[in-house]
Amino acid sequence: MMNSQDYMQLEDRYGAHNYHPIDVVIDKGEGVWVWDVEGRKYMDFLSAYSAVNQGHCHPRITKAMIEQAEKLTLTSRAFYNSVLGVYEKYITELFGYDKVLPMNTGVEGGETAVKLARKWAYTVKKIPQYKAKIVFAEGNFWGRTLAAISSSTDPTCKDGFGPYMPGFVVIPYNDLNALELILEDPTIAAFMVEPIQGEAGVIVPDDGYLKEVYNLCKAKNVLLICDEVQTGLGRTGKMLASDHEGVKPDIVILGKALSGGFMPVSAVLARDEIMLTIHPGEHGSTFGGNPLACQVAMAALDVIQEEKLPENAESMGKLFRDEMQKLADKYPVVTTVRGKGLLNAIVIKPAKSGKTAWEFCLEMKEHGLLAKPTHGDIIRFAPPLVINEEEIYWALDKIEKTLKDFE
Ligand SMILES: Cc1ncc(COP(=O)(O)O)c(C=O)c1O
Repeated sequence: MMNSQDYMQLEDRYGAHNYHPIDVVIDKGEGVWVWDVEGRKYMDFLSAYSAVNQGHCHPRITKAMIEQAEKLTLTSRAFYNSVLGVYEKYITELFGYDKVLPMNTGVEGGETAVKLARKWAYTVKKIPQYKAKIVFAEGNFWGRTLAAISSSTDPTCKDGFGPYMPGFVVIPYNDLNALELILEDPTIAAFMVEPIQGEAGVIVPDDGYLKEVYNLCKAKNVLLICDEVQTGLGRTGKMLASDHEGVKPDIVILGKALSGGFMPVSAVLARDEIMLTIHPGEHGSTFGGNPLACQVAMAALDVIQEEKLPENAESMGKLFRDEMQKLADKYPVVTTVRGKGLLNAIVIKPAKSGKTAWEFCLEMKEHGLLAKPTHGDIIRFAPPLVINEEEIYWALDKIEKTLKDFE
């Protein structure tokens, strides 16, 4: 019988060292709970970076996946399949867009959005050939491809991988003046932005920011691309985070929870004027739009709606932040509590003993709560959206136990 140590050693010996995981080996999951190889039970307070909004191994999605897997999994887009069109109708009607372009990972969704914006810039906006620029915000994170890291301001993601993609401009996040200024440039095609920056440490912009971003872009005929890969699908208390401000972006990117964590499924939504600038052969993916992914995505979206996960995220998130703020008032090591819905973070200052957010997460794990630091002193708290009140208090109790020891 292999134990946790054995599995960690295997990964260390045979896998690339591009991650630094918390030392727990998860073997099984159900709802908000996971179990390690030795059978110890933990609450998952990260949800695979918001991919498991519906909870681990949701039975409805499992069933949809198995049924489709026994029938047909992949045809490629060389042929039509009997699920793709049904899914395309479902998702476009749900979000109110003319068309969807199905991909797999979140970063492919981002790449697709950038390609669409460039194509639209040349064919509709008539920006001179190959002069189009895309604007991004400092602290953005949209994945690991060369284009994604080219727009990054995080040296850990970026350094050592140049040369970088041209045609990208970066401005400060949550800074409308900076956006207004850059939009004076007639070669700007699009502004791609997260409504709340997830990887940067759950950075929530000022109220009204996104609405004004939308207005500024509209006035200059610049596309607003919202990267809702992490914030979308109920996470922040609405179906999309942009719904909080009544904003309908020109292009929306979805991923992660679009499959409930079963497989990589991403999607780009846009109106015809944008989507129809791409013609056969100009973009695609062998796996994008496969019948298995489409069936899984429809089940994942059904669950979000039927179980009212955005509403639950809203109320449980408020409860969590209110109670977490009380803990912050009691334990000065917590300097900030922030977030929206169930996308939250705390900032902690290093303890006198020199312990940091990393040690904090290791100690929370000993108490049965799994989370991970992002950017040094920030810890993201993003449980599956199926969490109930009792479970929120359970988690708060473990956080308090950790805080007591940390002082
Ligand atoms: C906002 C955002 N966009 C895109 C991505 C990339 O998604 P993927 O890892 O599936 O490529 C992430 C991943 O964390 C993300 O948080």
